[in-house]
Amino acid sequence: MADLTTTYMGLKLASPLIASSNPLNLDIENLASLERFGVGAAILPSLFEEQIDVEDVYETYKRHYYGNAIPQPLQHLTTMQGYNKGSAGYLSLIFLAKQAVDMPIIASLNGVSTEGWIRYARLLEGAGADGLELNTYYLPTYTYHTSQGIEDQYVRLVEAVRASTKLPLAVKISPYISALPQFVKRLSDAGADAVVLFNRFYQPDIDTVLETVTPNLELSTHTELRLRLRWAALIHGQVETDLGITGGIQSGQDLVKAILAGGTVGMSASALLRSGVSYAGDILEEFEQWMDRHGYPTVEAMCGKLSPRPGEKSTAFVRANYIKELRSYAEKHDIV
Ligand SMILES: Cc1cc2nc3c(=O)[nH]c(=O)nc-3n(C[C@H](O)[C@H](O)[C@H](O)COP(=O)(O)O)c2cc1C
Repeated sequence: MADLTTTYMGLKLASPLIASSNPLNLDIENLASLERFGVGAAILPSLFEEQIDVEDVYETYKRHYYGNAIPQPLQHLTTMQGYNKGSAGYLSLIFLAKQAVDMPIIASLNGVSTEGWIRYARLLEGAGADGLELNTYYLPTYTYHTSQGIEDQYVRLVEAVRASTKLPLAVKISPYISALPQFVKRLSDAGADAVVLFNRFYQPDIDTVLETVTPNLELSTHTELRLRLRWAALIHGQVETDLGITGGIQSGQDLVKAILAGGTVGMSASALLRSGVSYAGDILEEFEQWMDRHGYPTVEAMCGKLSPRPGEKSTAFVRANYIKELRSYAEKHDIV
């Protein structure tokens, strides 16, 4: 039987399936079930810096969660002002989750200011998180924003957080970067233990009756995985950092693809939201059966198997696939 254990940003995981950041992971029972179904780690929904109001976190913590049982690393919060119950609740969630499960619990942070990222990174570490994912979700909205400026900002952010916490650090990025391999390398050099490909930018729709902009969060489908597979395959082997794949993993076969392309782990949110946390067990069962059928003893042996070898990288690989795909469409539809 295949060995599903693996290592991601230095953390030992029971399997390469991670429950990606989503509201299911706010529930301790769900976290316990995910662990039972074999999931390697869970990433909590992001703590957004904007959700923080001025409130004494200590008082909130004490009132709503443990009475006087404040974990030692958080004792210093007694003197801190300026945190709301959002952040206090989040810290207590980490604390409770760590009591309930053995699998790594990765906190997620979406900050605005560098100072905010650093401050909360330290709090999350104090609360007992095993790792930290930086959810970088920044849209260049003005004409004076440059690609270089935005990339530099991300790199500086990673350097600053890296310097302020010892937690294993992942950075979840968007695909809208023109030279992705180089950017991922810069993040790796700045201290990211993992880079997660890719954030989904939720795109609002327009209601043509009311003539308003409407939020419209749709769950992902298989097709979104392709973009991740290409970039994981191209980047794998060129950087030190681990690669996490998020976006479009709906089945065990999809998880197989993510690892063959070069992902260290694959993550799931939409599939679990659609089918429930027990579906993680189905994904892993299919994944394990595939490994057995194909004779892979470990996940590591599969990782990057379909990533092009050095030298094959870049234009030859990309153009060859492009031409092949165009030709196969034309042939399939009897166009030529
Ligand atoms: C309802 C919902 C809430 C999410 N919340 C967060 C979040 O707080 N932070 C984050 O980094 N990603 C968040 N995500 C993104 C997921 O973690 C994941 O990266 C994305 O949905 C792509 O994976 P999937 O195709 O498996 O859904 C959320 C996704 C959904 C559907």
